[in-house]
Amino acid sequence: MFGWLRDHGIIERNVILMAVLTLITISIGGLVQIVPLFAVETTIERVAGIRPYTPLELRGRDIYVREGCYNCHSQMIRPFRDELERYGHYSLAAESMYDHPFQWGSKRTGPDLARVGGRYSDDWHAAHLRSPRALVPASVMPPYAFLDRRLDVSDIQDRMRALRIVGVPYSDEMIANAAADLAAQATPDADPSGFQSRYARARQGAFDSNPAMVTEMDAVIAYMQMLGTLVDFRDVTPAQLRQP
Ligand code: HEC
Repeated sequence: MFGWLRDHGIIERNVILMAVLTLITISIGGLVQIVPLFAVETTIERVAGIRPYTPLELRGRDIYVREGCYNCHSQMIRPFRDELERYGHYSLAAESMYDHPFQWGSKRTGPDLARVGGRYSDDWHAAHLRSPRALVPASVMPPYAFLDRRLDVSDIQDRMRALRIVGVPYSDEMIANAAADLAAQATPDADPSGFQSRYARARQGAFDSNPAMVTEMDAVIAYMQMLGTLVDFRDVTPAQLRQP
């Protein structure tokens, strides 16, 4: 009955046979884990509310990356009690699915910003960016008052096309209307229906409180104010997490 145990000695005494059989065994385990991933379109669970950035938010994000804000700020709330109590619901993978590059990290010279949206007023952000120490005397954050300059919008369509290549679902309509949508979001008097029909939950504002000119400050504040606000966690249940 246990004859095969005796035969197993053949494998144990032959290093090469042992290595080959080990390799085959490990390969099967690897294939079982890896092959199914080729068949699924995405490994990220879809979550209602997640949309690409509006053109203004996108420019704000690009400036955030350009200025190296990520060197001091992460955008990834981990599921630990201290982080949940300080920042709110832990980050979902879907919340950064349109981020290229993503802004995860654990090095926090300043607080995590994944859910900073709506926590402060636009005026607070503008004053804080111009001079962090005016509001938080012990802050080591550098001042960014120079962001009060005109925003360069000439290449907004190229930026959206580049993101489309890597999978962000910007439609032809979104790209065609990019400059108009950008201007409308930063101009409180403009008709918001166009860009709000293309981007759900996008807020219009004067962000830096100067509606006369669209500035880099407008873009950064619009971006800050939408961070973490797309998913409504009040009515999130596992079933509702999935889009039909
Ligand atoms: C040298 C590190 C450093 C850099 C670079 C930096 N920050 Fe900060 N940031 C901090 C620190 C420290 C705080 C906490 C003290 C304060 O509020 O000023 C902070 C606070 C903030 C807050 C308030 C967060 C909260 O929950 O209270 C925002 C918003 C913010 N930073 C945005 C930015 C943006 C946007 C940039 C880039 C334009 C940036 N920071 C660059 C260090 C930095």
